[in-house]
Amino acid sequence: MDLLLRDVTPADAEAVVRILNPIIEARLYTVFDQRFTVDAERDYIARFPSRGVWKLAVRQPGGEVVGFQVLEPFGPYTTSFDHVGSLGTYVALDQRRQGIASALFPATFHAAVQKGFEKIFTFVRADNPAALAVYTGQGFTVVGTAKRHAKIDGRYIDEVLIERALDGRWAGAFSGANG
Ligand SMILES: CC(C)(COP(=O)(O)OP(=O)(O)OC[C@H]1O[C@@H](n2cnc3c(N)ncnc32)[C@H](O)[C@@H]1OP(=O)(O)O)[C@@H](O)C(=O)NCCC(=O)NCCS
Repeated sequence: MDLLLRDVTPADAEAVVRILNPIIEARLYTVFDQRFTVDAERDYIARFPSRGVWKLAVRQPGGEVVGFQVLEPFGPYTTSFDHVGSLGTYVALDQRRQGIASALFPATFHAAVQKGFEKIFTFVRADNPAALAVYTGQGFTVVGTAKRHAKIDGRYIDEVLIERALDGRWAGAFSGANG
């Protein structure tokens, strides 16, 4: 699949919720538990921090948005965490296992290094082995499990804590994405 990797804009809000809401409704993959409206998403994108990275994967030709990855500052309440980002990855449910997440990671890593991030620290639902496989395949290591950390539809779910260092490798050599 040919993919264009580019930064999100507020005009992408509808495409983003078209991917995200079915993932939320499946109740299996994410700790988001409420659907997003297009208006709320547009507003969120418009307010997205300039230090964040939000990459879309757009199928070529055709221009269909088939996945995205969002990296946000981990703890904006202190400068101590300025070098740490948290990451979410979302691929359209009917487009999985075609290398879309694999294409997004290097674009996000590259942009994250450019913006001064040195590591990513994030969470994956313990009952989402596909996500864990994708992240560990991208160099993330498991650093622990937060027990009964999410509660969705009255059911507790553990969260697996994962992290990955970003080194200078991602700063210069990468040329696979624009934006
Ligand atoms: C997890 C997710 C992002 C993976 O995206 P994807 O585009 O399907 O992943 P890729 O095709 O790039 O897969 C890369 C590798 O990850 C591993 N992988 C992906 N899906 C897998 C699965 N269901 N089971 C086991 N390994 C899997 C494989 O090693 C795969 O390589 P391969 O296909 O050559 O064997 C996607 O399934 C998704 O969006 N799921 C719903 C939302 C979600 O769970 N997000 C993560 C939480 S933030």
